[in-house]
Amino acid sequence: MRVEKVIYDGDPGHDDAMAIIMAAGDPHIDLLAVTTVAGNTTLENTIKNALMIMDLMKLDIPVVPGCAKPLLKKLQTAPMVHGQSGFEGPEHFVPLRQASKEHAADFLIRTFMESDGDINLVAAGPLTNIALAMTREPGICDKVKQIVFMGGGRYGNITGAAEFNFWVDPEAAKIVIDSKCKKVMFGWDLTEKAIVTPEAFTKISEIDSRLGRFVRDLIEFYALGPAKGTEILPTINDACCIAYLINPEIFETSDYFVDVVTTPGISYGMSVIDYYRMNTWDMSPQPNVTVAEELDLDLFWEIMLNAIEVFD
Ligand code: RIB
Ligand code: CA
Repeated sequence: MRVEKVIYDGDPGHDDAMAIIMAAGDPHIDLLAVTTVAGNTTLENTIKNALMIMDLMKLDIPVVPGCAKPLLKKLQTAPMVHGQSGFEGPEHFVPLRQASKEHAADFLIRTFMESDGDINLVAAGPLTNIALAMTREPGICDKVKQIVFMGGGRYGNITGAAEFNFWVDPEAAKIVIDSKCKKVMFGWDLTEKAIVTPEAFTKISEIDSRLGRFVRDLIEFYALGPAKGTEILPTINDACCIAYLINPEIFETSDYFVDVVTTPGISYGMSVIDYYRMNTWDMSPQPNVTVAEELDLDLFWEIMLNAIEVFD
């Protein structure tokens, strides 16, 4: 069986939690560590939330704290979607496990530079930690198998132009997009198709475990966010990155030239995707990102539910 080594960088966060559970529960993934970054909520909360998930899965996968704010902007979190704690919904508890004392940027540099180049980096929060690691160690892309990230998209979800992860730290997003790392992008226009269907929610609610009940309570709250009172269903955005590593066939992808707007204003943090390859007519930049455009929702949920059920 093909097994992909993964370091997950994110801002748990309801959908990050689902991605971490999918990574830890699926046999095709060897989850080496979770590094956390401020985004959906404060860095402190992302650490506690990640540790609670590790306790619920009874796994000793390292949780490594990173940056408490974006490179330039002040931190703007998303309590309207994830609650102040970033994990609103279930009853919280004091995690037994403790976070690493190493900074995520140091951890990423050390781990990738010592590796055989066979580790995937999944990034599903603001890209602050990744950008800092790249700035500190410009050669890191020679040792990163690929960066599979949730961010950007054809349109925004926090402004009309920008998706949340890119909007929180546009400068970090640009550093990563401009890097020579192999990049696979799961933008908002794709990940908003990863909906929690009523059938999926019913199956989650039938999982009789501490983790299953925690996930049910997370999703129940998550559905009451911006979607409250509407027909809009919550979306498990970040898990798309993990599902891709488990079975790329779940997605359709194309290669495009992508750039990021870092000038303050209406389009700050916007990902600009060159669908008509205008930028390549005159030998300007060739496509630099593989962009996911379609997903098979049934296969996605088959993987997601199997992963939750692994843990008793
Ligand atoms: O725009 C959605 C993204 O922002 C997801 O990664 C979610 O967890 C938040 O970080
Ligand atoms: Ca996230």
